Amino acid sequence: MRWVALALLVGVVGVVAGIPYVHNVDSGEGEVWAVLILHQHGVADDHIIVMMYDDIANSKENPHPGQIINRPGGPNVYPGVPKDYTGANVNLDNFLKVLKGDSEGLKGVGSGKVLKSGPNDRVFINLVDHGAPGLFALIGDILTTTNLTDAILSMHHNKQYKELTLYVESCESGSLFQKLPHDINVYAVSASNATESSYACYFEAELKTFLGDVFSIKWMEDTDRENVAKETLKKQYHVVESETKTSHVLQWGQISIDTEKVGAFVGSYKTGGDGGDKSSITSPDVPLALIQTHIQDSQGLIGSTFWHQEMDELKKNRTFVRDTMQKIIQQVTRDTEVTTRLMTDHHNVIFNHECYESSVMTFHNLCFNLGHNPYALRVVYALVNLCEHGYTAQEFTCSARAVCDFEPVIGIN
Ligand SMILES: *[C@@H]1O[C@H](CO)[C@@H](O)[C@H](O)[C@H]1NC(C)=O
Ligand SMILES: *[C@@H]1O[C@H](CO)[C@@H](O)[C@H](O)[C@H]1NC(C)=O
Ligand SMILES: *[C@@H]1O[C@H](CO)[C@@H](O)[C@H](O)[C@H]1NC(C)=O
Repeated sequence: MRWVALALLVGVVGVVAGIPYVHNVDSGEGEVWAVLILHQHGVADDHIIVMMYDDIANSKENPHPGQIINRPGGPNVYPGVPKDYTGANVNLDNFLKVLKGDSEGLKGVGSGKVLKSGPNDRVFINLVDHGAPGLFALIGDILTTTNLTDAILSMHHNKQYKELTLYVESCESGSLFQKLPHDINVYAVSASNATESSYACYFEAELKTFLGDVFSIKWMEDTDRENVAKETLKKQYHVVESETKTSHVLQWGQISIDTEKVGAFVGSYKTGGDGGDKSSITSPDVPLALIQTHIQDSQGLIGSTFWHQEMDELKKNRTFVRDTMQKIIQQVTRDTEVTTRLMTDHHNVIFNHECYESSVMTFHNLCFNLGHNPYALRVVYALVNLCEHGYTAQEFTCSARAVCDFEPVIGIN
């Protein structure tokens, strides 16, 4: 038997009435595609659980209402997609309940579907959203490395799987698996290593949006193309790893599981497909690139001033986030040189998870909600540095309380 959980998502970047459509990249299209793959490979709907923000098909900015495409010129892939948890029901609590099989806890919420797998089942989990060192953003919530590791350990303890495979696309996704044991039949593939961005690709000129992320597109295209009844996870890993030239795709956990067939996790009816990747850029640069395209397209036209202002505002917003982090750190260190070093040193591997995760929660709760301000994810590496330099989460919290006295903001991309 096979069970599949997909968590997925991301919101709209900018809503601009009457001016061409902009929505976020990391998007829902990939999820829809993943679900289609599972359908085509014969996985029954009642064994597929989908959490998706579901903001694309019916977004006011979508020029083709009710439709989602996942590659340039591709067909509408939206109809028939099971949507078990959408909108506000996509949150950490519900995600963990789905994994734990807690149907009581999800009574009356969304479809109420949870993993009902047992010791003979294979489970496949695909996560796609924004990330940062040691965390994965679930809309307004944060899934930390500890949260994910704990959930997996509890699934192991409760014999909820024979083998569990996770594919994760987010910036710094490798950092989610640094605490994953090697002996509990869990195998993971991350789109990027612990210290780099994953990449957005498939820039679609008409829609002015990126239609997927390189890693996700690569594994899904490979799954469409290959006979997954025969292809091993190991072979798929090598194909995806070599085709993803923009980040380091890595294997984690019990790597010996990679001799299993891909079809054991995603279903194994043979299907056909096509595709290929075009230009790609890092996810954090997407909002900049989108506005840049609008600026180019609107040269000399009425919209031009508007897009220049948007660009200025985007940059101002980002500076505010960065300055806030810098101010807090300055209050902690009381040493400008050290502060500069903590703010610029990017080579961060997390050892002190407790200090880091606790500081991130503080920053998320008191300063910038990381799910609603994706750019804030780009500065939390400074907290890894802070903790690795021996400062404490308590010191960070005290200073954050003093500095973050502004009204909550959303929409800093
Ligand atoms: C998730 O982890 C953070 C720290 O890493 C912790 O504070 C929080 O309570 C955890 N959440 C759940 C629901 O376990
Ligand atoms: C992670 O990726 C970055 C950027 O590509 C690279 O500089 C770094 O060496 C990589 N680290 C590891 C451990 O692979
Ligand atoms: C700038 O940030 C504000 C929230 O403080 C947000 O409402 C606005 O949309 C952002 N502007 C841009 C261009 O990202």
